[in-house]
Amino acid sequence: MTTSNLVLVGFMGTGKSTVGKKLAERLGWQFQDSDAVLEDEQQTSIADLFRQYGEAHFRTLESKTLESLLAQRGQIVATGGGAVLAEENRACMLRNGFVVALKASPETIIHRVSADINRPLLQGNLEERVHTLLEQRKSAYDFAHAMIDTTELTTDQIVDLIIQQANL
Ligand code: S3P
Repeated sequence: MTTSNLVLVGFMGTGKSTVGKKLAERLGWQFQDSDAVLEDEQQTSIADLFRQYGEAHFRTLESKTLESLLAQRGQIVATGGGAVLAEENRACMLRNGFVVALKASPETIIHRVSADINRPLLQGNLEERVHTLLEQRKSAYDFAHAMIDTTELTTDQIVDLIIQQANL
């Protein structure tokens, strides 16, 4: 199978950026982090966008960034954890790449995201927020072509599995 892009989706803290970078190195592909591209385009942080204009505005920008990123080829694209919520984004990802969903246990997610306190949707009681959002997004990542539980795996093991599953 020829893959035009490899798209990583998954809840916050499932390792999309870490895995994406390593995967890009291994394959010699470009790595793009859609959140970082959006921040670059808007010349501000995601936390600031949420604060100043709210989540709905961020989601509109997120869809536009994703669409223009996925118009290109030969990239590993790490998406924001909520990018899968819009049907148009899911369709765009499926049309333009092989989509891999990364999963992790709630405990692993909480441990990983506690290193970065800036995520706007995780303000307040971290454990409660993670559990609530995981429940709300229970099936949100099921549309992907492949799914990998990263809880017990090293980055290299995850990269190997993706290369196998996407036939790269
Ligand atoms: C979000 C995840 C974040 C970022 C924004 C919203 C979400 O990306 O896009 O804070 O709704 O899950 P990461 O998954 O890279 O943390």
